[in-house]
Amino acid sequence: MIEHSLSLCYHNKLILAPMVRVGTLPMRLLALDYGADIVYCEELIDLKMLQCKRVVNEVLSTVDFVAPDDRVVFRTCKREQSRVVFQMGTSDAERALAVARLVENDVAGIDVNMGCPKEYSTKGGMGAALLSDPDKIEKILSTLVKGTRRPVTCKIRILPSLEDTLSLVKRIERTGIAAVAVHGRKREERPQHPVSCEAIRAIAETLSIPVIANGGSHDHIQEYLDIEDFRQATAASSVMVARAAMWNPSIFLKEGLRPLEEVMQKYIRYAVQYENHYTNTKYCLCQMLREQLESPQGRLLHAAQSSQEICEAFGLGAFYEEMTQELNARRAEFLARTPEAAGEPAEDTSGIIKMAVKFDRRAYSPQITPKMCLLEWCRREKLAQPVYDTVQRPLDRLFCSVVTVAEQKYQSTLWDKSKKLAEQAAAIVCLRSRGLPEGRLGEESPSLHKRKREAPDQDPGGPRAQESAVPGKLCKKPFVALGSGEESPLEGW
Ligand SMILES: Cc1cc2nc3c(=O)[nH]c(=O)nc-3n(C[C@H](O)[C@H](O)[C@H](O)COP(=O)(O)O)c2cc1C
Repeated sequence: MIEHSLSLCYHNKLILAPMVRVGTLPMRLLALDYGADIVYCEELIDLKMLQCKRVVNEVLSTVDFVAPDDRVVFRTCKREQSRVVFQMGTSDAERALAVARLVENDVAGIDVNMGCPKEYSTKGGMGAALLSDPDKIEKILSTLVKGTRRPVTCKIRILPSLEDTLSLVKRIERTGIAAVAVHGRKREERPQHPVSCEAIRAIAETLSIPVIANGGSHDHIQEYLDIEDFRQATAASSVMVARAAMWNPSIFLKEGLRPLEEVMQKYIRYAVQYENHYTNTKYCLCQMLREQLESPQGRLLHAAQSSQEICEAFGLGAFYEEMTQELNARRAEFLARTPEAAGEPAEDTSGIIKMAVKFDRRAYSPQITPKMCLLEWCRREKLAQPVYDTVQRPLDRLFCSVVTVAEQKYQSTLWDKSKKLAEQAAAIVCLRSRGLPEGRLGEESPSLHKRKREAPDQDPGGPRAQESAVPGKLCKKPFVALGSGEESPLEGW
């Protein structure tokens, strides 16, 4: 199924460095657009990856590695398949191999992070902690080299003495890895310390495999031409750029840096196209804006609470509308093609009362939800508690909940992004079909007024789907598109 060659070449390459939170799919694609040859994903921890399922996302045309809580831990796509290197955090050879096997058909290379000095990494024996355990390094790398079909690399920092550094890298080379990336700083050094071009040069002159020089942002690399200067200063085969690319990914462009506004707009377009979680999009844009965070645009970005608001802050409101419509149309088309996969019965004979409703959390006080209203009503009526039965369909990983109250089942025909939202929607169907208050802001209900006074400050909600309850029939009316006020838990990492 994989179309690229099994061996990625690490000679003479411009490389986007692994960066936690920054190196997600939109940034990697943008770096490729601007001329990066190879892009590393952010470090992903082996234990987390091993909980993930590989899911082909037909709507986004991506491959997603999805955690049990439905978060997308790693999202990739065909465009980068022959250029993306998967970096893992690990301290165990068997786990590392299991992760490599999980992702190897979707990536071009496998890398082990041996340079992260942060406590969360070193505490578990990962990252820079590995540098003081060469036996473990050898075990991990040789297990990976033998066991995976992809080229294996590692990213290290330098040791306190050059002699120890050289003996470590020689041992690393003997494991058969394809290249080594060297961040020319010691474990305890921070970005403000100068990078040692001399140490990287000594390593490059000692090894036969390609050495990838790293650590040059700010002091050495501020624009495209500086990348080659850094390569020459370190005698390395290739250069890996982190911060300079995070600040402006057009650093990889031969023609020189593009204006930040243009770069950020391109970034946002990818973020929306690939349903990147808005918090991650916002984080990356903040890294790009840097000292302009206090500008009017920076303030708008800071206040944004959704992908739509981010788009609006950057004059991309119309783009957001178009893209979400296109994605929704793709979703609908896909579901229509495969009703069985969608989990929809061909004919509904279930006797379940159904309506096309969604829970728009902005329309409700956080203290009063439809589920709470339903529970309270059941208690008052001395009925058994509502029972929620929720399923997730594999096709798009959306949820649908059926609630049973007094032996009658209720369900929304609109599938939701999370179990919680689906349950709220089912509760709404039950409450509406029984003509009961559901806790909407501004709803007339004496029993709810008391609680609303305890919870002021709520944003009045948007429109609501008004559907009549038809026992046993799927609602045939066009669905009313309601913002749920939540980002998809599938977005993002
Ligand atoms: C925001 C951020 C996140 C980073 N995350 C990772 C990571 O996941 N894995 C890793 O090996 N290094 C990580 N690094 C370190 C960089 O890859 C790189 O080694 C370091 O920033 C020096 O390169 P530079 O001078 O080009 O910035 C990160 C650096 C930054 C600034």
